[in-house]
Amino acid sequence: MISEQTRTMLNSGVDSSRLDHDYQRLKGLARSSLGYPCNQAFDYRELLPFLEMPLNNVGDPFQESSYALNTLDYEREVIDIFADLAQLPHGQHWGYVTNGGTEGNMYGLYLARELFRHGMVYFSEQTHYSVAKILRLQHTPSIMIKAQENGEMDYDDLRESIRINRHLPPIIFANIGTTMTGAIDDLTKIHNILDELAIREHYVHADAAMHGLALAFIDNPPAWDFAAGIDSLSISGHKWLGSPIPCGIALARSSHVKRISRAVEYVGVNDTTISGSRSAYAPLMIWYGLRKHGEDGLKKMIKDSILLAQYTVEAFQKKGIQAWRNQNSPIVVFPKPNNEVIRRWSLAVDRNIGHIVCLPHIEKSTIDTFIEDYLTGSPEPH
Ligand SMILES: Cc1ncc(COP(=O)(O)O)c(C=O)c1O
Repeated sequence: MISEQTRTMLNSGVDSSRLDHDYQRLKGLARSSLGYPCNQAFDYRELLPFLEMPLNNVGDPFQESSYALNTLDYEREVIDIFADLAQLPHGQHWGYVTNGGTEGNMYGLYLARELFRHGMVYFSEQTHYSVAKILRLQHTPSIMIKAQENGEMDYDDLRESIRINRHLPPIIFANIGTTMTGAIDDLTKIHNILDELAIREHYVHADAAMHGLALAFIDNPPAWDFAAGIDSLSISGHKWLGSPIPCGIALARSSHVKRISRAVEYVGVNDTTISGSRSAYAPLMIWYGLRKHGEDGLKKMIKDSILLAQYTVEAFQKKGIQAWRNQNSPIVVFPKPNNEVIRRWSLAVDRNIGHIVCLPHIEKSTIDTFIEDYLTGSPEPH
């Protein structure tokens, strides 16, 4: 039986004035949202006609599904591009467009667990909060490793933890750009530790949610990709590239994926992905975003973001505030301000630090206003 309250909600029709009001409200908030890694500088309006159809990319993108209303060819193109950017040789690559960075991490950890049933996952204390949840969900034993001041993994702690548990195949969850400080774990050091301890069976997953796209387009990046010995990788699509709907890319060595795939007759494809029904718009948007920018456009976008981050650090320092950033990161870290400033600018905070993420939609003048407010902003009344 439907309650009166639900009946009223169902039967009130579409309230256009409410939609208008919230559109304006969200537009206003978007202008002062500095703390989260979502590039707002995009325009996908050319793709609007595709919203007229119930598109769905169910199943493995490298097979033809019996559900014909799909954009699997765009998805394959996106995966081919990212595989190449991440130095995963053609023919040895597999991947799919996910719902976001979290799903890509879940996929990597799922693959690792399927390959090493008795594996032990090592992840640093600066790892994104969703990873602990994924490990609980998958019942995977894990050890949290200490982090250094800049957010990078503490390699001595990693070495010691693996040494004590050397009878269990290590599954290393490496951060290629931590959420709070943009710190990049050193894959060479990680592999050296595995070699030193003579551990032959291991798996390395790289979480490059935010920084993956950038590292592919900057000169002399640190080791971050398949050439540096990773087994799988996750990148978010809505972060540096930008999109109105969360999305991401999961990549893995195809030899690993073959060992876990199962055929499903209902949709006529292998069930290699985590979700069944999957967005067909996300691959279209990522494809469109990549093509619209092109190589030079992407390089410029990334360079400009990093220059803006450097400008922000220096502007803070000129005012006597100890702001800093890790190399190759658009994330600027500073002492946590009062709650009112945090709220006004949608800042991300953790213990005694706060940060902003310098992305293409942010103007220098906005940074100047933010710093002024940071210095003078009224604290929240007690
Ligand atoms: C390092 C890192 N990993 C994973 C995630 C989760 O990604 P998503 O929000 O795309 O699921 C984030 C999000 O901020 C992140 O910063």
